[in-house]
Amino acid sequence: MNVFRLCASVLSADFRYLADQIKQLEDAGVDEIHVDVMDGHFVPNLTMGPFIVSTLKKITHLPLDVHLMVENPDRMIPWYAEAGAHRLSVQIETCPHIHRTIQTIHASGCEAGVVLNPGTPASWLEEVVSHVDLILVMTVNPGFSGQTFLPEVLPKISKVHSMVEHARSKAAIQVDGGIDQNTLPLVYSAGARVIVSATAIFKHPNGISAGVKALRESVS
Ligand code: DX5
Ligand code: ZN
Repeated sequence: MNVFRLCASVLSADFRYLADQIKQLEDAGVDEIHVDVMDGHFVPNLTMGPFIVSTLKKITHLPLDVHLMVENPDRMIPWYAEAGAHRLSVQIETCPHIHRTIQTIHASGCEAGVVLNPGTPASWLEEVVSHVDLILVMTVNPGFSGQTFLPEVLPKISKVHSMVEHARSKAAIQVDGGIDQNTLPLVYSAGARVIVSATAIFKHPNGISAGVKALRESVS
């Protein structure tokens, strides 16, 4: 049995061969496909619109985990829900009405996730911890794959884990950024059970399935 869920971020996929790469992820036993939506404003990069999500929906049965790194995510919720997202996660820094945003995501038929940047305190979650399905603690500053894991975020993962337990929340704790076979055991020990990875999967010297295997085997 797998002790954590593994989400492959297609930010590092070779889009010339997207369908083939998704098939390799499925065969390797990845649990979810993570889609990094960046608007060139909230983060200094511009990436995937709803068209990518609807295209992925046609080529895989795996759940599509959409990470919205955008200003004003509320207006985009219906776009990505209609495109086939399973979960929509919003950066709490972009949501003055986070409670309403979570309601809107649920009403659109998706699971709701809330994301904290490295510089955002765990306390911002306090009033919504019972209402979300997932809490994503960023382990790099968002914008690009291939960045170095920030170990100073580890105590915050433990803090969020305690908040979730204390509130008896169903929220799973996800991490994203710089996760490889060396950093995965650290975030796992701190309480993360949903793991996002791009580079360690897509850029593994021996290919996608070797990358997935190395991550799986780093925690037993
Ligand atoms: C970073 C994105 C991540 C990114 C992770 O802003 O949210 O999902 O793709 O890439 P790696 O695993 O290479 O750090
Ligand atoms: Zn992400």
